[in-house]
Amino acid sequence: MRYLITSALPYANGGVHIGHLAGVYIPSDIYTRYLRLRGHDVIHVCGSDEHGVPITLKAKAEGVTPQDIVDRYNKIIGDSFREFGIAFDIYSRTSSETHRETASDFFKHLLDKGEFIEQTSEQYFDTEANQFLADRYITGDCPKCGASGAYGDQCEKCGSTLSPMELKSPKSAISGSTPEIRKTKHWYLPLDKHEQFLKEWILEGHKEWKPNVYGQCKSWLDGGLQPRAVSRDLDWGIPVPVEGADGKVLYVWFDAPIGYISATKDLTPEWETYWKDPETKMVHFIGKDNIVFHCIVFPAMLRAHGGYNLPENVPANEFLNLEGDKISTSRGWAVWLDEYLKEFEGKQDVLRYALCATAPETKDNDFTWKDFQTRNNSELVAILGNFVNRALVLIGKYFDGKVPTRDDLTQTDRDTLSQIATFRAAVEKNLETYHFREALFEMMNIARLGNKYLADEEPWKVIKTDEQRTATILNVAVQIVASLSIAMEPFLPFSAEKLRKMLGIEKIEWNRLGDDELLVVGHSLGKAELLFEKIEDEVIEAQVAKLTAIRQKRDEEAAAGEPESRIEPQKATIEYDDFAKLDIRVGKVLEAELVPKTDKLMKLTVDTGIDVRTIVSGIAQHFSVEQMVGRQVTVLVNLAPRKMRGIESEGMLLFASDADSGKLINVTADAEITAGSSVN
Ligand code: MF3
Ligand code: ZN
Repeated sequence: MRYLITSALPYANGGVHIGHLAGVYIPSDIYTRYLRLRGHDVIHVCGSDEHGVPITLKAKAEGVTPQDIVDRYNKIIGDSFREFGIAFDIYSRTSSETHRETASDFFKHLLDKGEFIEQTSEQYFDTEANQFLADRYITGDCPKCGASGAYGDQCEKCGSTLSPMELKSPKSAISGSTPEIRKTKHWYLPLDKHEQFLKEWILEGHKEWKPNVYGQCKSWLDGGLQPRAVSRDLDWGIPVPVEGADGKVLYVWFDAPIGYISATKDLTPEWETYWKDPETKMVHFIGKDNIVFHCIVFPAMLRAHGGYNLPENVPANEFLNLEGDKISTSRGWAVWLDEYLKEFEGKQDVLRYALCATAPETKDNDFTWKDFQTRNNSELVAILGNFVNRALVLIGKYFDGKVPTRDDLTQTDRDTLSQIATFRAAVEKNLETYHFREALFEMMNIARLGNKYLADEEPWKVIKTDEQRTATILNVAVQIVASLSIAMEPFLPFSAEKLRKMLGIEKIEWNRLGDDELLVVGHSLGKAELLFEKIEDEVIEAQVAKLTAIRQKRDEEAAAGEPESRIEPQKATIEYDDFAKLDIRVGKVLEAELVPKTDKLMKLTVDTGIDVRTIVSGIAQHFSVEQMVGRQVTVLVNLAPRKMRGIESEGMLLFASDADSGKLINVTADAEITAGSSVN
C-alpha cells in the first residue's frame, strides 16, 4: 500500500509546544513509523505556514520584516521536530519558490476552469495606514459573547468564527483608528457548488471518521455552505496571478494546504504518484481548529481542480490544556519544545510517551507535570525499563550476556509467547483506527506480560537448583524483550534504538513481532543500560513553580486592568441568633486531592479539632493541592452534609473572594491557631 501522510503546517510566528505535539505531530509520527515498519511505501510531509496576518503583525511589533520572522521560526520549529524524532521526509515552507509557483498555478487553473466567482464586497479600510483590514488586522467586540479584542475572523474567547462586519466597535490593529467601509473585489470559491458532493462523500462515505471530525463536518454541511473568499487585500502572501490584481494576495488558507503538494514536489519527482494515483491513501493529521479547511475547503479545491485524490481520513485531535488552563502562547502558558529539551536532555521519549498517553483524542485533555512524572516513574521506569533491565542483567550474570539455550517449553512459556501476538494485534487495530492512546497501552502490555512472567517464574531462585530451566526462562524473556523493541519503535524511537544496541540487533520489521525466536541461542547481547530513569519531585516542582509564576502575573495584571471594584451591596439585616447558629472553626488541611473529571473541585481531609472529615471545595483553580496541604483554613462546620460528585462533603471552607480579581484568599490568620478554635 502507498500512503501520503501530511501534518498541519505550523504558522511560522512562534515555537511549537506540547499542544502541537500531542494534537498532531506525535500521532502522525507514530502512524508513519508504524506503516514504514510494516513495509508500506509511505511519505510524511510538513513545513512552515509562512503567510497570514499574525506574521505581519508580529514583524511590525518587532520592527523587522515578515521574512525575518518566518526565517527565524522556520528554523526553530524545524529543529524542534527533528530533535523529537518526528519523522518527516521533508520539512518545507510556503515562502519557497516551488510553493509560490504551485499555488499560483493552482489558482490560475481554477480561474481558467471557471471555478471561482468574482464578487465586490464592503471591507474595512484604514485611512491612516492606507490599506484594507483583513482578518486579524481588525479587532473589536465579539457579537456572540461580547468579549473585547475579538478578531475579524475569530473570537478567541468563545471560539466563534466571525466576519469583520459582525464586530462591534471595530478598530484597526495597525493604527488603532476606526476604519471606514470601502468596496473591494475578490475571488470566491463557491463551496455551495460542492455541497451535495461533500455531503455524499463525507456523511455517507466516511462514517468511520472520528466522531469529533464527522460531527463538525456534519454541522457545517447541515448549516449550508457559502462561497469563501480566496484572496485578500494584503502585501504579504502570494500575489494573485491575475493582471491588475495589485495589492491582492492569495488567502493564507488557500495557499497553505497547497503547501502539502509543494512539499511533496520538493521531496520527489514522483510526487504525482502520491497525489493522483488512486491507489495512494492520503491522511491529514491536524488539530480541531483545522477541520473545516481539511475536510471541506481543501477537498473542494482539489475536486474543482480535478485529478487529485481526496483524503482517506482526517484524524483531528481536540486540544490539550496545561495544568487546567488553555494553552496560550501570548501569555506564555505553554511548555515549549526547545525549553523542554534544554531542561530534560535526552528525555524526548518521556514527553512523547506522556503526550501520547494523554492525547486529546476525543475531547480536550489536560497535561500536568505530576502526571508526566507518574507516567515516567510508574510506567516507563517501573514497567518497561524494569522488565528489560531484569532480563538483560540476569542473562549477563548467569549466561555471560549470551542468549541462553532453550529446553522444552512449559505451557506457561507457550501461553506467554503467544500472548505477544494478541497484544500485537491490539496495537495494530488501534493504530489503524487512530486510537493512539490505546495502542500505546497495548504496547506496554507486552512489557507487563514480561514482568509478570519473570515474577512468576523467578529465575533468580530457579538458578540455585536448575540452570537449564533458568536458561529457558531467560530465553523466553529475552524474546519478549526483542518483540518489545519492535513494538516500541513507533512510540519511543530513541529508546527503541537504545534497546536495539543493548540487544546487539538491527531494526526488525514489524511482521516479525511475536516471533518466538527473534534472537538465536548464543547471540551476544550488548551492554545493559537503564532505558529510563526516575524523575525526582524537585524537578517537577521547578516546572510547576515556573507556571505558578506565570499564573500569578496574569492574575495581577487582570486585577490591575480592572480598577473598578465590584463590591457587593450589603445583605438584609439578621438577628444575633441567626449569626450564632453558624459554627465556624479554624481547621487544618491534612490531605488534598483533585476530584477527577472536574476542574474546580478539590477533596480535602480537614482536622476541625472536633474530628477529621472530608470537605469538597470549589477551589482547584485557585490553589494547588500542594498549597493546601498543611494549611490552616476557616471552616463552617455545622453546614448540613451534601454530596458533590458522589463524595459526601461535611462542611464548607470559607475564603475571601477578592472583589477586583475574583481570586480566593485564605482568611485564616498567619499565626498558628489550635485546630477547633472558634471564629466569632
Ligand atoms: N497553520 C495552520 C495552523 O497552525 C495550519 C495549516 S495546515 C495547512 O492552524 F493545511 F493549511 F497547511
Ligand atoms: Zn466571543
